Amino acid sequence: MMENLAWQTSSVDKMQRAGIKRQKPCILWFTGLSAAGKSTIANALEEALFRRGAHTYLLDGDNVRHGLNQDLGFSDLDREENIRRVAEMARLFVDAGTIVLAAFISPFRRDREMARSLVAAGEFIEIFVDTALEECERRDPKGLYGKARRGLIDNFTGLDSPYEAPDRPEIHVLTDRQGPAQIVLGIVEYLQARDYLG
Ligand code: ADX
Repeated sequence: MMENLAWQTSSVDKMQRAGIKRQKPCILWFTGLSAAGKSTIANALEEALFRRGAHTYLLDGDNVRHGLNQDLGFSDLDREENIRRVAEMARLFVDAGTIVLAAFISPFRRDREMARSLVAAGEFIEIFVDTALEECERRDPKGLYGKARRGLIDNFTGLDSPYEAPDRPEIHVLTDRQGPAQIVLGIVEYLQARDYLG
């Protein structure tokens, strides 16, 4: 099928789109267990960036699975396809000049590396939201760990489906040492120091 497709180049490019926003586009890729705090931190970070005048967009696992990816479940293959689609979407947002926040368990190293490979060097910032399984299970905000323990949900990450922690994330967040506000401040400083925020 692909052999009959051409690539249409557009006359306005990524640099120009990012230029009028005065920012360096990138993907802030949050990975971690369910209930680790990915969405909470990503939300608070988006708010902080928005207040600074950055043009952001947040892609979140639970939300995307209600729409674009509602046909996907939690088998290894479906998770791979979930990440492939959202990574492609994140790439389009980077091309649009946006700072994208992506919050998905994304348990497989290979899928995260695939997402990284879609954008240029420096445009993929992996943020490991590192919360111990015991703590996630203690929080259990959606009651899903409980259900999984009772055998009502299969392939639950951390229980009967693996989570492969990043080896060398750009940012390693230890949620037992810092609260969301401090974590957000640290990420904003990281972005500022590297000129993402213009
Ligand atoms: S991913 O593994 O494909 O990256 P994603 O981040 O999109 O997962 O979705 C995870 C969310 O789906 C969890 O926060 C949780 O609310 C819900 N969920 C439902 N079933 C499962 C399951 N078997 N494993 C993990 N999360 C699940």
